[in-house]
Amino acid sequence: MKTVFVKSYGCQMNVYDSARMADVMAREGYTLAASAEEADLVILNTCHIREKAAEKVYSELGRLRVLKEERRADGRRTEIVVAGCVAQAEGAEIIRRQPAVDAVIGPQSYHRLPALLEEARRAGTEGPRPAPAVDTDFPADDKFRHLPAPSRARVRTRGVSAFLTVQEGCDKFCAFCVVPYTRGAEVSRPVMAIVDEAKRLLEAGVRELTLIGQNVNAYHGPDERGATTGLAGLMERLALLPGLARLRYTTSHPNDMGDDLIAAHRDLPMLMPYLHLPVQAGSDRVLAAMNRRHTADSYRRLIARIREARPDIALSSDFIVGFPGETDAEFEDTLGLAAEIGFAASFSFKYSPRPGTPAADLGGQVPEAVMAERLARLQAQLEQDRQAFNRDTVGRTVDLLIEKPGRHPGQLAGKSPYLQAIQVEGIDAPVGSVVPVTVTGLASNSLFARPAGSDAAAISGMAAA
Ligand code: SAH
Ligand code: SF4
Ligand code: F3S
Repeated sequence: MKTVFVKSYGCQMNVYDSARMADVMAREGYTLAASAEEADLVILNTCHIREKAAEKVYSELGRLRVLKEERRADGRRTEIVVAGCVAQAEGAEIIRRQPAVDAVIGPQSYHRLPALLEEARRAGTEGPRPAPAVDTDFPADDKFRHLPAPSRARVRTRGVSAFLTVQEGCDKFCAFCVVPYTRGAEVSRPVMAIVDEAKRLLEAGVRELTLIGQNVNAYHGPDERGATTGLAGLMERLALLPGLARLRYTTSHPNDMGDDLIAAHRDLPMLMPYLHLPVQAGSDRVLAAMNRRHTADSYRRLIARIREARPDIALSSDFIVGFPGETDAEFEDTLGLAAEIGFAASFSFKYSPRPGTPAADLGGQVPEAVMAERLARLQAQLEQDRQAFNRDTVGRTVDLLIEKPGRHPGQLAGKSPYLQAIQVEGIDAPVGSVVPVTVTGLASNSLFARPAGSDAAAISGMAAA
């Protein structure tokens, strides 16, 4: 039997797509390999968002070329496929740069993977090819044709938490970002396709769904009567499905946080009090140059409304430092805004010029050393805020979704509603159950807890207070 190894380099949707590609190859009789060394087919599911992410792929391909030759010496064949957003952006150029690559496939074509491999085999993997096996087509008609029809989707073993793609692509065109080019125009999946996939996942034991999309809160899919449904309406539908314990969604744009979605954070108990809402920067001049179409103040007001609806909500954000032209004072505005909001979690990056994006051609590119210093300062501040948020949870009783056995015998591991990793002791509950626990202490990346109401929780809870 042939085996496949898929490696993800990107965002949640990239991880989701990797599972779809594994599904497609499973239908061709492939099983999953534990490593690239053992695989007959290696798929690199690439990310183009920053230069570093894209360059990693070429060093990995260099390693795979050697592996391919070694295996060939043993009489075994290795096929190498480059998928994902670098594949979409660079196409056949990848095979010119690394001839060991057999095929290149963009995110909208994964259903065509077996056919494309067939093409590559026919053309032969040695020497120059008449036409490289590349599929980076952008379908105008059915953007989600690469997703398996739910009735045929295989029920595989997965954890209690799963991603579900509801929307793909982005029309926002932030000046720094490749996503509108690699993922194309924003399109929403029909409500019933999502409900059907959700049902299969729940039947397979999933308890928590994270709805994903590059611009997920712009979701506007047709329901079974053809009426346009927003993300809040979609979640109301999903909340009715038996077995579902938790709903989350990511990633959102501030300008698409509608009143109904904010109200859902108040009214839908299943919707977890956590929101990833990237702000990118705190200076209005920089935000305008980024083409974000919101200001620092409109973001502040939005956060105030969200907190009014759900006072305990945990907020997270993405930040870019060193956008072209960013001055010291403008960077201070970012620090100030971050401190003011107090994010529970964050991702922060040095600006990376991406080919084909408007910002790459701007003057005033910020020197590397300045970016490094700004990033270090911002990250120190964000880390303080994260720890402060976690400290505030100590002594509180929260619902814990049990995901797996814990680090040590007798422990179980899971997540709080605020997406904090928790290790709990002194409890015997099945994976997938939700149990109230009292947070008793914290380590750098997780919290410790005891069953709510237990003596141990009372004693250490008091000690922590
Ligand atoms: N809405 C998308 C965002 C993807 S990019 C989603 O589905 O998650 C994730 C983050 O990467 C962005 O929010 C931004 O902070 C960062 N990013 C994007 N382009 C970048 C660039 N050229 N340089 C540095 N960081 C970038
Ligand atoms: Fe990129 Fe902006 Fe779209 Fe997010 S909203 S994917 S940062 S263009
Ligand atoms: Fe990367 Fe593509 Fe996701 S560029 S962040 S894998 S949409």
